[in-house]
Amino acid sequence: MLNPVSHTWILQNEDATLSWGRRFSDFLYPGLVVTLEGELGAGKTTLTRGVLQGLGYTGRVKSPTYPILETYSLSRLYFYHFDFYRIYDKNELEDSGFRENFGGSGVCFVEWPEKAEGWLPSVDIGIKIKILAEKREFTVVSLSEAGSLCLEKWQKLGWL
Ligand SMILES: Nc1ncnc2c1ncn2[C@@H]1O[C@H](COP(=O)(O)OP(=O)(O)O)[C@@H](O)[C@H]1O
Ligand SMILES: [Mg+2]
Repeated sequence: MLNPVSHTWILQNEDATLSWGRRFSDFLYPGLVVTLEGELGAGKTTLTRGVLQGLGYTGRVKSPTYPILETYSLSRLYFYHFDFYRIYDKNELEDSGFRENFGGSGVCFVEWPEKAEGWLPSVDIGIKIKILAEKREFTVVSLSEAGSLCLEKWQKLGWL
């Protein structure tokens, strides 16, 4: 990869996570795969909720633990929200429908990618969330050319 981009933010509260997600949504385009790592309660679903708000979704964003995939058909793009927390083997992963939707015409956000390590097709952007006492540390890394292009747009606006 030519130009990996990486940046870390400290986000003070849930609202900051939501607005970060809304801002991030402007830079997403069909086909991007974004993984979200961080322990339970880190803010992976909250961030996804912010992204969906930014994409114009006004309904409730559920945690997709059951089922593993929630699909959103939005005006600008399809959005697939996966949560692999309860994936224990490759068959369960195949049944989740990820193969049909990954890297295709939608944007994919994946919670617990660690559970599917070695089975996931290429990832473009990796987000790691660390719990600090009352806040969160977000680190975003581009993992492909497409991911770098996406984050470079942020850089140009001075947000990275
Ligand atoms: N930047 C932040 N600082 C402090 N608390 C946060 C922040 N972002 C989200 N939270 C809180 O952390 C929790 C995250 O829950 P959730 O998004 O369901 O986590 P996950 O999907 O990673 O298990 C929520 O209670 C939310 O209010
Ligand atoms: Mg979650």
